[in-house]
Amino acid sequence: MRSGKSIPTKFLYWTDDACHLWIETCNEPEYRFYRDSLIQLKEIAPNIATEVLSSCGNTSLDLISLGCGDGKKDAILLSSLVNLLKNDGNILYYPVDINATMIVEALRAIARFPLEMNKLETKAIIGDISCLDSLKPIYEYRNSPNIFSILGNTLGNNSEEEILSSLDDGMFSGDFLLIEFSAASDPLTYADFEKLGTTFKYPITPQGSIPLTALGSSYDPERIDIVIKKNISIIPHTKTIVLYYEKILIDGTEFRQVKLSSVHIYNENSFQDFIEKRLDVKTLFFSCQRGIGLLLARRN
Ligand SMILES: C[S@@+](CC[C@H](N)C(=O)[O-])C[C@H]1O[C@@H](n2cnc3c(N)ncnc32)[C@H](O)[C@@H]1O
Repeated sequence: MRSGKSIPTKFLYWTDDACHLWIETCNEPEYRFYRDSLIQLKEIAPNIATEVLSSCGNTSLDLISLGCGDGKKDAILLSSLVNLLKNDGNILYYPVDINATMIVEALRAIARFPLEMNKLETKAIIGDISCLDSLKPIYEYRNSPNIFSILGNTLGNNSEEEILSSLDDGMFSGDFLLIEFSAASDPLTYADFEKLGTTFKYPITPQGSIPLTALGSSYDPERIDIVIKKNISIIPHTKTIVLYYEKILIDGTEFRQVKLSSVHIYNENSFQDFIEKRLDVKTLFFSCQRGIGLLLARRN
C-alpha cells in the first residue's frame, strides 16, 4: 500500500469465505461475463482440443490450469480433450490455485462431469501462479506437452507483468497457452459495463472486504471510488477499471485512496500481438465474442 500498488488479487481469494463468495457471485444471473464465458467455451472447446491434438500428434498432454477456480471450465475442456485422445493417450490435469477450497470445488466439478476417468489423472497444486518456476519440478514429471490455461480474465485482474514473466519462465518450447480475457469496444460503453456485470462490482461486494478485514480495517462499500484509466496496463489500448478505497487505518497510520483492485479490459488485436511477442508464441486459434476473448497459442 505504501508503494501505491494494488493489493495483490490473490488476497481477494484468500479465505474459505472468499471462495464461497466468488462461487455465489458466479451463480448470479447478472454476472454475464462468467455465464457467457461458459457458453462460449462449450461451443469452442472441441475446436481447441482439435487444434491442440492435431498440432502435437495426438499424444498425451498435461493441462495446467492456472487459477482453476471452481473447475467448471476445466471440466468442459478436459471432456473435449479426452474425447479426441487416441486410445493409449492420457491427460494429466494440474489444477493450481492459491485457495485450497477452490481446488476441492474444481475436483468435485471434474468428478461430476461425464468423463472417461481411465484417461485422466489429477495432481492438485496449492500454489501461486506468479511463481511457476518453483512449480516446474512438479509438472516436469513427464515429457508430454503442457497446456497452460489461464481463464476468466485472471490475467486482467492480476499483475500482468508478474503473471507473464511467470509464464515466460514456466513454459517450454512446444507448450500451449490458452488465455481468456475481457475485451471491449473503444471507448468503453455502458453495454461493456453491463457485460462485466458483477466482475467490476465484485470488490464492492463483501469480497472486497476480505483483504481489508485481514488488515484490521473496517469496510464500507460507500467508500469505494471507481475510475476508468488508460495506460495502466502493459498492453497497449487497454482500459482499466480501478477501484480505490477512500481511507484505511492500520496501526495508527492512515492510507488514502488505496488501490483495492483493477480490471483490465483489452483491445483484442493489441492483446493478441502483445502476447505473441512477449511470450514468443504463435496463435493457433483466436475468438472474440460477447466481449470475451480466447487465445490459443503455441510456444516456438
Ligand atoms: C477470476 S477467478 C477464475 C477462475 C477460473 N479460471 C474461471 O475462469 O472460472 C481467479 C482464480 O484464480 C485464483 N488466483 C488468483 N490469483 C492467484 C495467484 N496469484 N495464484 C494462484 N491462484 C490465484 C483465485 O483463487 C481464483 O480461483
